Amino acid sequence: ATERTLSIIKPDATSRNLTGKINAKFEEAGLRIVAQKRIQLSKEQAGEFYKVHAERPFYGELCEFMASGPVVVQVLEGESAITKNREVMGATNPADADEGTIRAEFAESVGENSVHGSDAPETAAEEIAFFFSGLEIVG
Ligand code: CMP
Repeated sequence: ATERTLSIIKPDATSRNLTGKINAKFEEAGLRIVAQKRIQLSKEQAGEFYKVHAERPFYGELCEFMASGPVVVQVLEGESAITKNREVMGATNPADADEGTIRAEFAESVGENSVHGSDAPETAAEEIAFFFSGLEIVG
């Protein structure tokens, strides 16, 4: 079925001017960018977005990193978009990511791993609503 998923191009990638190269990977995989904006998160906003990870040892570092520079938040649409996006991103740790994936090519470490993507339909709906109103998404 056609799905939508939330994607974030993280500060390590925006700072290295990789937005276009990453978007090309999504588009080559058949994902359509149906909403997109470049924003600066505060640490508090990053903490709210990642609150499921609040008890993890890396939570503080994660929030600081996500607020360390601009991010590009986007909605990707396509057939099985949630799974497809996760395939295009590659494994969380770039050392484990398959060749040709975004994280294999661009990520610097497990923390500075260039992109985020929703992991399931329920989280995709929640994460899209965190950043976008319905009017901002044009399929
Ligand atoms: P993301 O898909 O954005 O979701 C949570 C993030 O936590 C994850 O990608 C990683 O970038 C980040 N993170 C930082 N350190 C770790 C770690 N040691 N293990 C797993 N994820 C980590």
